[in-house]
Amino acid sequence: MSESYFRDLYDLEGKVAVLFGGTGELVSAIAKGFAGAGMKVALGGRNPDKARARIEEIRSAFPASEAVFIPGQAGSREDVERTLAQTLEQWGRVDVLVNGAGVNSATPFLEISDEEFNRILNTNLQSVMIGCQVFGKHFLSAGHPASILNISSASARIPLSRVFTYSASKAAILNLTLNLAREWGEKGIRVNALTPGFFPAEQNRKVLTPERVESIMRHTPMNRFGNPEELVGAALLLASSRAGAFITGADLVVDGGFTAMTI
Ligand SMILES: NC(=O)c1ccc[n+]([C@@H]2O[C@H](COP(=O)([O-])OP(=O)(O)OC[C@H]3O[C@@H](n4cnc5c(N)ncnc54)[C@H](O)[C@@H]3O)[C@@H](O)[C@H]2O)c1
Repeated sequence: MSESYFRDLYDLEGKVAVLFGGTGELVSAIAKGFAGAGMKVALGGRNPDKARARIEEIRSAFPASEAVFIPGQAGSREDVERTLAQTLEQWGRVDVLVNGAGVNSATPFLEISDEEFNRILNTNLQSVMIGCQVFGKHFLSAGHPASILNISSASARIPLSRVFTYSASKAAILNLTLNLAREWGEKGIRVNALTPGFFPAEQNRKVLTPERVESIMRHTPMNRFGNPEELVGAALLLASSRAGAFITGADLVVDGGFTAMTI
């Protein structure tokens, strides 16, 4: 390996990423990090005002960057297909897909309605399924390496009180991720999970009551919440077909030690 290999270990300049959930707190921070690394980013989401603000933030941090918003509903095949088509039209390629749309709810188990269960599963899980199908099909014929990052959660592997449907959806995302890593291992498509611990954001604000915050802190060796920017390094590694070339089927946990903690 040459010196230049290490100097440009991530090699992301000019690569293109589509990020669903891109107007939210965590995925927009990842998008900003991607833009800082020279990538072109398309933010998928449903709120144009938030999208404008996120894109403004990216452009003011990195004036030469290219960032667009492509509106759409998570879990809508039509919208995901349109997002892929628009990105290809804009930049002619896609290298990285981030599936990060997510909703949460703290409904007590016996009160979870079928409607709520289906809505959360559709937004969190079916969106990942459809994203992997639509982009996976494209990646298989694109002829260059590609990377899929599915956003899971620390609650995917261990029981986390109060968030039943959310946790079930994230466990399923992890399983789907591993299965696709197996499926596409020899096809140039790497599929990994990026698993955040606790980061205050819109979707979990209602769940983060003072008692719960105290309990989370007691179970987090670093004794604090994460900052969204702290996901960027892990995301760049998984996105990079150079630095992350041999990483597929991984569950990269960024949680201040939460999932390592027992008593
Ligand atoms: N914040 C945390 O502590 C934490 C921890 C683990 C995992 N996550 C996951 O990270 C991802 C990002 O969440 P966040 O914390 O940034 O929350 P957020 O609420 O800021 O972002 C969630 C995003 O999903 C989008 N979204 C929700 N429903 C949608 C729909 N029907 N159609 C289109 N977009 C929709 C929202 O508009 C928003 O952009 C989610 O998958 C979440 O489950 C977050």
